[in-house]
Amino acid sequence: MKNFTSVKDVKDPGGLVKRALEIKTNPFTPDFARGKRAGLIFLNPSLRTRLSSQVAVQNLGAEAIVLDIGKDGWALEFEDGVKMNGNKAEHIKEAAGVMGQYFDVLGVRTFPELKDRNTDYSEQLLNAFIRYSGLPVVSLESATRHPLQSLADWMTIEENWKKSERPKVVITWAPHVKALPQAVPNSFVEWMREAPVDLTITHPEGYELAEEFAGGVPVEYDQMKALEGADFVYVKNWSSYKQYGQILSQDESWSFGNEQLAVTNNAKVMHCLPVRRGLVIKDEILDGPNAIHLQQAKNRVYSAQAVFAELFTSSN
Ligand code: CP
Repeated sequence: MKNFTSVKDVKDPGGLVKRALEIKTNPFTPDFARGKRAGLIFLNPSLRTRLSSQVAVQNLGAEAIVLDIGKDGWALEFEDGVKMNGNKAEHIKEAAGVMGQYFDVLGVRTFPELKDRNTDYSEQLLNAFIRYSGLPVVSLESATRHPLQSLADWMTIEENWKKSERPKVVITWAPHVKALPQAVPNSFVEWMREAPVDLTITHPEGYELAEEFAGGVPVEYDQMKALEGADFVYVKNWSSYKQYGQILSQDESWSFGNEQLAVTNNAKVMHCLPVRRGLVIKDEILDGPNAIHLQQAKNRVYSAQAVFAELFTSSN
């Protein structure tokens, strides 16, 4: 594996899930990557990704150095061939080039602006870090994907499903007050297509995900119908891809609560966090026995550890 930006970077995604589950049984391997350094670069806020990546790198015996570049770094220019006489102080060519001198592996978080779909879906920012750092790069969530989250999600499903038949997994849109990226649902769908599960997507009309992620996956516009018999429900808000970055609905009848849970097969309920209680998922679910969001968050350490271990090895 050269970089970790998408499920497509992984030769054997199911094997990587197994590896992460093995790591969970014995996470402390301080000699594995002793002397190695990971730079964790955040253009946007984070709680779980930042902390779990730091813990993961430290579990491997390596050092993690975090830079909130969006807050503490120079404002970055990503366009080529411009005269930098505005408010951008440093070009990505130098910024990432310098990071390439300091680290063995680079983690990068870059959210989409949700203004121009082509710019966001070209992953201009993430690709610039890959190109100019010359390092193996781990996506800590990019404009279109959140692969470390999806790997932890698959691990969590695996831990909670001991039957031989395929579980029914439903990803459901839920209301939110802000326009959020499609990265988590895109990525979850992309990884679940590689997993031994039967996946359904449910959302109000207008919230269809991009064809490159969701093409061929069943979509049911009636949430209650989609949830019937579900073994796992992934609740998440996202803004529209078609009317790019727009909020088309705030229908609170889509908030996930006991009424929705009742039609499932006593489903485990998942969310990547942060979650807005009472709006996206009701307290009765988050405080109840079906919620596995904290287990997902815990698995973020081991999913990151499996990925950093592989990239530290390839950086030898
Ligand atoms: N799920 C997740 O990525 O959380 P953070 O945004 O807090 O890192």
